[in-house]
Amino acid sequence: MKKLIAGNWKMNGSLAANEALLGALAQGLAVKPACEVAVCVPAPYLAQVQALKSAKPALSAIDLGAQDVSAQASGAYTGEVSAAMLKELGCRYAIVGHSERRQYHGESDALVADKARAALASGITPIVCVGETLAEREAGHTEEVVKRQLAAVIHANGHCISEIVVAYEPVWAIGTGKTASPEEAQAVHTVLRAQLKAATDQSARVKILYGGSMNAANAATLLAQPDIDGGLIGGASLKAADFLTIIAAAQ
Ligand code: G3H
Repeated sequence: MKKLIAGNWKMNGSLAANEALLGALAQGLAVKPACEVAVCVPAPYLAQVQALKSAKPALSAIDLGAQDVSAQASGAYTGEVSAAMLKELGCRYAIVGHSERRQYHGESDALVADKARAALASGITPIVCVGETLAEREAGHTEEVVKRQLAAVIHANGHCISEIVVAYEPVWAIGTGKTASPEEAQAVHTVLRAQLKAATDQSARVKILYGGSMNAANAATLLAQPDIDGGLIGGASLKAADFLTIIAAAQ
């Protein structure tokens, strides 16, 4: 399967900075990449990025994604953005269950599962994030935690489960410069792969991305692991040269 390199800009950017970053990416992507590429941008900039994609043909290689989605379809949910709205703005992906949402917004496994279901119902691929904290890893609970988080999404999405993307993001590796070693990441990906295999006979279609301080220097070795099907990139996706190097490493 083709690998997927998805940038998560988090709460970064401005109209000017986004235009400069995408301009640089367009130059770098003049030759079509071998992998799939996406950028998950702050909601206020989705329309801008969609417009820039229409204006610059090289950006057609980049799919648009959101960083979150409401579990609700519509109504009195102030501040929420529905999957249908994201679809209308050209989104292919929505991240759900990022550890920063679980940590700062108290998102539960059940809510994350509902958000994945709402995304799928509108034809948006949820990028479902799972991952353990440092304390959970040190207590030997990594496998139990990621399996519990993924099980909730599998349970709520039944036969659609082959339509999701999974991202393994050890919380202790996010934005810290500490990366899981390729072997550590591969070990967890193997667990997730087996869990998906038990849930659907279409599991071979499900990409499992690694996220957590993936950068231009370490991407190639991480992406060489048999069950690492791409990356969810935070900080390094904000620098065109670094993001392009990671894309080039994803053959
Ligand atoms: O969604 C991306 C991850 O949280 C990784 O972020 O690459 O800045 O460590 P990072």
